[in-house]
Amino acid sequence: MKGLVAYYTKYGNGKIISEAIARGLEESGNEMTVVSLPVKDVSGDYDFVVVSSPTRFGKMLGPVKKFIRKNLGGAAWRGKPFVAVGTGLRPAGEDGAPQETDESGGPCGPAESAEQVYSELESAGLKPAAPPQKFFVSGMKGPLWEGEPERALGLGREVGRELAGGS
Ligand SMILES: Cc1cc2nc3c(=O)[nH]c(=O)nc-3n(C[C@H](O)[C@H](O)[C@H](O)COP(=O)(O)O)c2cc1C
Repeated sequence: MKGLVAYYTKYGNGKIISEAIARGLEESGNEMTVVSLPVKDVSGDYDFVVVSSPTRFGKMLGPVKKFIRKNLGGAAWRGKPFVAVGTGLRPAGEDGAPQETDESGGPCGPAESAEQVYSELESAGLKPAAPPQKFFVSGMKGPLWEGEPERALGLGREVGRELAGGS
């Protein structure tokens, strides 16, 4: 199958995760195109899509929402499988992760953009291939926690196998 991975990144963490997911999907037999948002247009006939956004103050980023609404809302995408990915801070207490705070000193995290990308894509008429996927950074701007790129690669392989199996 032909898949599209579209990500937005500010500090590069989302690029690493998105490219690892794409590699996993390729390893399980899919032909992948990876684009960094914003893009003018996405041409091509794709069977599924992966969309990734950082989390900023509990929200997915504007260019990602715009991309979904402008490019994935049409009849061509209706009913096609998607994977929603969010990067952000890990919840406090998990594996010793400290609680990060936002600029007003309040707690923030954890990678809520994953759920928001998921519901935007569902509202656009696409069909989830997996629950919202969160990947974690160890500080406000990264880097990724150890093992996250490998986890992303594994996710790509797993979803790729399921899609190839027709589920
Ligand atoms: C100003 C600011 C606010 C942030 N707010 C949140 C937040 O509310 N929740 C969260 O999980 N991560 C938050 N983060 C961490 C970002 O999600 C993290 O920088 C991003 O996921 C890294 O992805 P990127 O390198 O692809 O841009 C924030 C980071 C910054 C700089």
